[in-house]
Amino acid sequence: MELHGARILVAGATGALGGQLTTALLAAGATVVPAGRDPERLVEVGEECGQTGLHLDVVDADACRQVVDAATETLGGLDALVVAVGVASFGRALEADDAVVEELFAVDVLGPMSLVRAAAPHLGEGGTVVVLSAILADVPTAGMAEYSAAKSALSTWLGLVGKEERRKLHVVDVRPPHLDTDLSDHPLAGTAPKLPAPYPAARVVEVVLEAVRDGKKEVVWDADAREVVAR
Ligand SMILES: NC(=O)c1ccc[n+]([C@@H]2O[C@H](COP(=O)([O-])OP(=O)(O)OC[C@H]3O[C@@H](n4cnc5c(N)ncnc54)[C@H](OP(=O)(O)O)[C@@H]3O)[C@@H](O)[C@H]2O)c1
Repeated sequence: MELHGARILVAGATGALGGQLTTALLAAGATVVPAGRDPERLVEVGEECGQTGLHLDVVDADACRQVVDAATETLGGLDALVVAVGVASFGRALEADDAVVEELFAVDVLGPMSLVRAAAPHLGEGGTVVVLSAILADVPTAGMAEYSAAKSALSTWLGLVGKEERRKLHVVDVRPPHLDTDLSDHPLAGTAPKLPAPYPAARVVEVVLEAVRDGKKEVVWDADAREVVAR
């Protein structure tokens, strides 16, 4: 997809990766409507985009649809949806709190699915969907069973949407390793175990834009090359 002139909704633009993706998309000549929860950050990123940021809590499927509709109206159409929403939780699987598990799956799985379903009719033929899952879909990890299961579910679903809609939609599943953002410092529950050295989110952003431009289906960790690649 040509990014110059593209009309894009970024859900989770208030977060670290979503914010960096927004900045990079703007630099590439796209018009971006940002959506997120944190009100102060939403104003900042809205100013950066020259748009009014849209408040979004993805646990509400109706809100997901309304935000997609509002962004499409503002932009006069929609060429791409970027979903950088997500939350982690840590701890032993059998000790997890029901409410935490429900919220985690609502934010990490059901919300992104609602956003993609809502955007698809607006995107039409040739539209692009970029969704952040995680390396945990490839390497499920003890101590983060719910987070791993949620990202595996999301990644599986994205792969199948990509197959079912291959003639119409370009779906990019982004599965980065642990990054230099502070996601693991504000989990829904628990404390992060010792994690590997963080990979630069800025490099993930570059590879995501490459994937969008070149029609690649996933952004993944190449363990031999020790870098994130688009394929
Ligand atoms: N950082 C990593 O190591 C890493 C590795 C692999 C994959 N990922 C994935 O990358 C994505 C972005 O992570 P990040 O590192 O940028 O973390 P982040 O800075 O914490 O950003 C998370 C984003 O999710 C949003 N969010 C959380 N709950 C929400 C809800 N109920 N409704 C709407 N938005 C909600 C946050 O919104 P507010 O801030 O406005 O509340 C924020 O925009 C996530 O899907 C994460 O799982 C991250």
